[in-house]
Amino acid sequence: YSKIGIIGAMVEEIELLHKHVETTGTFVKAGITYVQGTLHGREVVFCKSGVGKVNAAVCTQLLIDAGVDCVLFTGVAGAVDPSLNIGDIVVSTTCLQHDMDCTPLGFAQGQIPFQEVSEFIADPQLVEVATNACERLFPGRSKKGKVLSGDQFIASREAVHKLYEDLGGACTEMEGAALAQVCVMNGIPFVVIRAMSDNADGSAHVNFAEFTVEAAIHSHQIIEDMIQQL
Ligand code: ADE
Repeated sequence: YSKIGIIGAMVEEIELLHKHVETTGTFVKAGITYVQGTLHGREVVFCKSGVGKVNAAVCTQLLIDAGVDCVLFTGVAGAVDPSLNIGDIVVSTTCLQHDMDCTPLGFAQGQIPFQEVSEFIADPQLVEVATNACERLFPGRSKKGKVLSGDQFIASREAVHKLYEDLGGACTEMEGAALAQVCVMNGIPFVVIRAMSDNADGSAHVNFAEFTVEAAIHSHQIIEDMIQQL
C-alpha cells in the first residue's frame, strides 16, 4: 500500500496518532480534519470520524478521495459473543448494519433491499496482518468475527442476546459497516479492529468510560504493529 488511511473512533486514539505521526499537512472537509504524514516510514492519512454511520460513511469517502489505497478502523465496541471479555479484540471478517430493517417487506434483518451484498467482507490480508499483530501484543485475547453496526448504543441483555442469536455477531458498534460499505463501493480494502469496552448489556456506560483510555492504547499499538507489516 502506498497510502494508508486510518480512522479513529475516539479523541484519545487520535491524540496518540498525533503524537506518533510525522505530520506533513492537514486539510478540512465536511468539518472533518484529515492529517497527512508518515508513520514508521509509511505514508498515512488519519482522521476522527465522529459517532454513527453517517459520520463514518462521509469520513470514509473523503479519505478515499484523498487517495488512500486501504482503510484501517480502530476503536471500542460492545462484546456480543459471550466468550469475549472486556479488553479482548475483534478483527472484522465481515461487517453488517444490524439496524437495517425492512423485514415487513420480506427482507432479512440487516439486508439492504435490492442490493446483492449487505454483509461486507474485510480484506483477508489485512485481517491476517491485524490478527498477527493482536497475537503478538495480546496473545489469546483476539477473535475474528462479524462486526455489527447500528446507530444505537446497545445496553440490554435482550438486545445483545438477539444480536448474537439472530445475526451471529462478535461485537457491536456504530461505524464499522458504514465504512465497510463505502470501501466496497469504491473497491478499497478495509479492516475494522475493535477492543471490547463493555458487554452491551446495561452495565455498558460504566465500563465504556473506564475502558476508553486503555482501548485507545491497545488500538494504537495494533495499528503501529500493522503498519510495519503492510
Ligand atoms: N461502542 C462501545 N460499546 C458499544 C455498545 N454497547 N453499543 C454500541 N456501540 C458501542
